[in-house]
Amino acid sequence: MTDRTSERTPDETPKLKEYEGEGITVTFEPRRCLHAAECVHGLPEVFDLSRRPWVLPDAAEADPVAEVVRRCPSGALQYHPTDGSVEHPDAPTSVRRTPSGRLVVRGDLLVSGALGDRHETRAVLCGCGASGNQPYCDRSGPCAEPDDDVPEAR
Ligand code: SF4
Ligand code: FES
Repeated sequence: MTDRTSERTPDETPKLKEYEGEGITVTFEPRRCLHAAECVHGLPEVFDLSRRPWVLPDAAEADPVAEVVRRCPSGALQYHPTDGSVEHPDAPTSVRRTPSGRLVVRGDLLVSGALGDRHETRAVLCGCGASGNQPYCDRSGPCAEPDDDVPEAR
């Protein structure tokens, strides 16, 4: 297993942490993580917040790692299989507004913001205007309240 953790900070891209495995590489964009915990509940042997590095892609087969990453609603987690395959966006694209105003979107997305236009498949966008990481939610608005956390709707 290649267990290499690195940070990439090119000018035009967000700060990502990269966890490289034999069959799949997982990237993590910390500012977009909303702590929905789909990852740690889905594959605790791969995603473990008490460990460094907290992501070990080779602790499971590549397919289940990809499946759990696709559950990450915020898009903080992305995956890149070494066979070159890519994540297929949900169809039709869906948008759900949470009680506190977050916009949970999945599909074939082009999200425009300070980092330019980004092709996305999953994102949670700020609907309240308070986020410091626009256009993404960073839980600095009313969405910080726990009653916004509806697991079955993620
Ligand atoms: S599933 Fe995504 S948003 Fe939730 S804790 Fe994991 S990385 Fe963060
Ligand atoms: S909706 Fe979460 S910070 Fe605005």
